[in-house]
Amino acid sequence: MIETSQTLIAGHNVDDGAPVFDRRGIAGVSRGLEKVLETARKVAKSDASVLITGESGTGKELIARAIHQNSARRNGPMVVINCGAIPSELLESELFGHEKGAFTGAHRSRTGRFEIADQGTIFLDEIGDMSADLQVKLLRALQERRFERVGGTQTIAVDIRVISATNKDLDVAMEKGRFREDLYYRLNVIPIHILPLRERREDVMPLVEHFQHNLVKRSADFVPKKFSKEAIQTLINYDWPGNIRELENMIERIAVLVEDVDVQVHDLPGCITRTVTCHHSPCVSSVFNNGMGFTEAVDQYQRALITHALAETGWIKARAAELLKMNRTTLVEKIKKMHLEPESEMPEF
Ligand SMILES: Nc1ncnc2c1ncn2[C@@H]1O[C@H](COP(=O)(O)OP(=O)(O)O)[C@@H](O)[C@H]1O
Ligand SMILES: [Mg+2]
Repeated sequence: MIETSQTLIAGHNVDDGAPVFDRRGIAGVSRGLEKVLETARKVAKSDASVLITGESGTGKELIARAIHQNSARRNGPMVVINCGAIPSELLESELFGHEKGAFTGAHRSRTGRFEIADQGTIFLDEIGDMSADLQVKLLRALQERRFERVGGTQTIAVDIRVISATNKDLDVAMEKGRFREDLYYRLNVIPIHILPLRERREDVMPLVEHFQHNLVKRSADFVPKKFSKEAIQTLINYDWPGNIRELENMIERIAVLVEDVDVQVHDLPGCITRTVTCHHSPCVSSVFNNGMGFTEAVDQYQRALITHALAETGWIKARAAELLKMNRTTLVEKIKKMHLEPESEMPEF
């Protein structure tokens, strides 16, 4: 009898409020990552909307999945939709579904992702790319937790938890009128910001270990590589413009291309060893290999040029502008837009 009640209490503790968070598949030891996981643990216990920000490849989707897996909705679906990859006209029917004959080509009715995500979590990726029109419709659906299919009259109610993510600076998008403030506040109840890998370099080697371990699990033939001291230092010093996705790709490439167990600096991809001449800008092959895209790569190059000029001139903006052969006001605007500060991480050379 006593035993039974103790068991019940123990069971209750595990389900409710105990600080257990399964971080399986998430590697790293940095303070920055610990903070992210701490917030994720707390937020998993609630149904609050979460907005995850961070550059591409930093692990936004991974954290979203961890929140879902650790939430009471874990047995429900987690539905992912990339709002940036789908043309605006199609995105509406993708999200909300459509009735037969709603538009040319709608030969049959279709269930939208909101309906599919009922009792689960919907992950709205690249939310910053959503058109103004659709932002209004999304806001309404989120406020009321109900909506109509495109071309439909029946109102559909769903029970979903919303996690969204963006690599864009939504503050800037709002200032420019490209992102609705009311929608922003609706999505951003709990903000989670994931730092780029270059601002948490302690995570580089634990991630290398983690990805090598994954390769071992996938193929019994794989013998984990041993990196020389210099190779390790090179990996830690590299800026990883494509973040963890780039590191993951690199480990796979090395596993295939380097036959020796010992990995030296010259075995690392040129991109990584050439950083010195790259001036901290993403080199072209790394752009292609990590899904960064034109705009983001150009942004990063601008950022690198400006930080260098500022470092060179001791943050005297007029002189930095001269060095860049650029209008001083333009430079000041860019500094503001990029949130650069004298304490911002300075390039090492
Ligand atoms: N801390 C981490 N530990 C292990 N793998 C990670 C970590 N962060 C990211 N990854 C992996 O890196 C890749 C990119 O992560 P993803 O969540 O898709 O990034 P984002 O959505 O920010 O572009 C994925 O394969 C993901 O599993
Ligand atoms: Mg992503």
